Amino acid sequence: MSEITPVISATGLYTPPETISNEELVASFNAYVELFNQRHAAEIASGAVEPLQPSSAEFIEKASGIKSRHVMSKASTLDPETMGPRWPERPDDEISVMAEIGVKAARAALESIGRDPEDVDAVLCAASNMQRPYPAMAIEIQQALGIEGFAFDMNVACSSATFGIQTAADFIRSGNARSVLVVSPEICTGHNNMKNRDSHFIFGDVATAVLVEARDMAPARHWEIVGTRLKTVFSNNIRNNFGFLNCATPETIGTPDKLFVQEGRKVFKEVVPMVASMIVDHANDLGIDPASLRRLWLHQANSGMNRLIAQRVLGHEANEDESPTVLDTYGNTSSAGSIIAFHLHNADLAAGDTALICSFGAGYSAGTVFIRKAA
Ligand code: COA
Repeated sequence: MSEITPVISATGLYTPPETISNEELVASFNAYVELFNQRHAAEIASGAVEPLQPSSAEFIEKASGIKSRHVMSKASTLDPETMGPRWPERPDDEISVMAEIGVKAARAALESIGRDPEDVDAVLCAASNMQRPYPAMAIEIQQALGIEGFAFDMNVACSSATFGIQTAADFIRSGNARSVLVVSPEICTGHNNMKNRDSHFIFGDVATAVLVEARDMAPARHWEIVGTRLKTVFSNNIRNNFGFLNCATPETIGTPDKLFVQEGRKVFKEVVPMVASMIVDHANDLGIDPASLRRLWLHQANSGMNRLIAQRVLGHEANEDESPTVLDTYGNTSSAGSIIAFHLHNADLAAGDTALICSFGAGYSAGTVFIRKAA
């Protein structure tokens, strides 16, 4: 039996309209620092409590490349008394927030090629953090779109979307599905600790969707999936302990280790070589010269990491054309980052161009998806 070739038929993006600049974020953080230091003035004076240090917009841009980010709930995120997204709890018969933005990205993907939801067989909600354990977010998205078949959630942190693409491609190769939506709604501000000076600036919110299909049903303009590879290596350097067994009391919810924590320097040092050699090895195994890759849509966590990875892969410092950045305006959007970069920066490539979508993050986890433009 000849294998069915999976392709990327379409992508979709939902960008929340509200944005927070570094300057706005730092003003809020510094107001929180001032409040904290005032409230703990006596303990600080006695040496029992360390005073908090202010943040700086210059540091953020220099250390990460981030200038601004889109968010789901600007006012509460900037309020020094809340510092996180807040909205009224929705009743069970109303679509949940995470599903709502996933549906918007998915609809954009389907409509871009005039695909009827009835022709889609499966929905994967691939993201860093689900809004609830069950019913699966993916099933709510499936129902809202009017898709039959099956759906499930998967969480591989920042690599969720590439792991989802490989899973979808495998379903297609095996004949278990012909059209699969991989949806990545990422409300990262909900699991970031906006009171942590080292990482309060990192994340933004967004939703993306990738439609993976059997080549014979795809539109003429598609991307052949030439090869996918996944890798995981356990590390505590990026961790989030939130969970129903770890949040026994309301008091412990929101404590620092129940939100995103990282050893940013260690992550930088360990993940760059791991990902660069994974890309080069995978390219070589596929018979692709890494230096010939037309474009790298890399995970968007830190511009310095991307510069180093692209340099090791291409053999020279990559320019924006070779390795586009969306981090400056979106921040780190976890698994959605490389998909945003692909969605916004693929139209100019020519038929036959080979390029790479690559993600990496907590786990550690990394995924490579080599694709070739068909037309
Ligand atoms: N404002 C001002 N100064 C700050 C600051 C802030 N918000 N946060 C930290 N600093 C200071 C530190 O106190 C330190 O000062 P010191 O040198 O006097 O001790 C200095 O800046 C350097 O801090 P450090 O945390 O070591 O910065 P960094 O250059 O390593 O950059 C990250 C931090 C997080 C941006 C960077 O390590 C990174 O992006 N790593 C990879 C993260 C990643 O990919 N994570 C994946 C998430 S999915």
